[in-house]
Amino acid sequence: MRLNRRTSATVAGAALVGLALAACGSGGSGDGGTDGGDGGGASEVEVFTWWAAGSEKAGLDALVGAFNEQHPDIEFINGAVAGGAGSAAKDLLQSRLQAQDPPDTFQAHAGAELQDYIDAAQIEDVSDLYDEFGLNDVFPADLVERVTAEDGAIYSIPSNVHRANVVWANPTVLEENGIDPAAQYADLDAWMADLQKLQDAGVTPLSVATTWTQVHLLETVLLASLGAEAYNGLWDGSTDWESAEVTAALEDFETLMSYTNSDRDGLDWPEATQMVIDGQAAFNVMGDWAVAAFEEQGKALGTDFVAFPVPGTDGVFDFLADSFTLPVGAPNPDGAKAWLETVGSLEGQVAFNKAKGSIPARTDADPSEFSEYQQTAIESFGQDTIVSSLAHGAAAPVATLNAISDATSKFTSGGSDLATFQSELASAAQS
Ligand code: GAL
Repeated sequence: MRLNRRTSATVAGAALVGLALAACGSGGSGDGGTDGGDGGGASEVEVFTWWAAGSEKAGLDALVGAFNEQHPDIEFINGAVAGGAGSAAKDLLQSRLQAQDPPDTFQAHAGAELQDYIDAAQIEDVSDLYDEFGLNDVFPADLVERVTAEDGAIYSIPSNVHRANVVWANPTVLEENGIDPAAQYADLDAWMADLQKLQDAGVTPLSVATTWTQVHLLETVLLASLGAEAYNGLWDGSTDWESAEVTAALEDFETLMSYTNSDRDGLDWPEATQMVIDGQAAFNVMGDWAVAAFEEQGKALGTDFVAFPVPGTDGVFDFLADSFTLPVGAPNPDGAKAWLETVGSLEGQVAFNKAKGSIPARTDADPSEFSEYQQTAIESFGQDTIVSSLAHGAAAPVATLNAISDATSKFTSGGSDLATFQSELASAAQS
């Protein structure tokens, strides 16, 4: 897939596959007279996320707009804590949960991260709300599986699906340096040849930011280098972290990091993506929330920016989904239920995802309501091999992610060599 070149084909295809077309109209209506519908007397709801600024806040604001329409009597209290990927929010949330001071609802990634909260008995079974809001048929079955515990109880309502393995590029910077913006790179080696060209020309080839974005880059390199099956094996124990294949992937990561901006540790993802928007860097690897940053600034796909899967990962969709929970002991459970109703509703999902750059978790949204980039994501989600993101809670528990993040930060800041990094990753995967 080359997002900027296959646009017309993918747009046409998107109408036929992916999330398309059920048009069933079930569930999701605003004030459907349910218990959650008018909050059962709730007057407020504290919603805890990390969508605190920029295009992420714009996404949250759009969801709040839908909430205010559906539940005008309930006050939305914004509990957002800044820091991409929940880098600050998740620790703070954990302290609050342990102090029995939960918000009314919080953002959590579908998959292993949600399982952590389930195992710690910190969130409630919301299966009843699926019945009440008519959600049982509107989400893809494998997504529902990722928010379901072993006993079959469902623990959150997904708001969106994001893709992690995307490269964003500035075509002007590429052209100025003799690189074809429509180039298709078969693998990381082919891409790195152009990164070297940019480096030689004194241009920052690849922008990156603080540790979590480096882990995000690492996961896409592991995926590109090992392939989907062996990448999956990193999380189920069938791929040996100490193997020569992983060494080769880490060497690629080391090389890629040598092409990045030296001020990276002081930045978060918006600044790294902004470097590409502003022409201060050629490429950035980031999840597709980045498209919202380009679009918010009036940039057009194909002209002002191009996007393509990380070389070596074409045909693979590195998946993550945000979802919302009902914490045990939430002070305003009725407010939380009202929020969850909006999150699951068609109106809420369309409003939110249009602004956020993600695609609706619901299968009955009309693809033509979404941007050109999002239509390619809808198509890819419908047909690609799906793997789980490490940096965004789908693949591994928070403890593993934290240990991998520590090892990565140590390595990229010069505190360990590659062999040490590899053995620290191997131990981290046991966490
Ligand atoms: C992810 C989250 C996305 C986006 C991103 C950057 O973990 O799922 O919705 O917010 O972090 O902060």
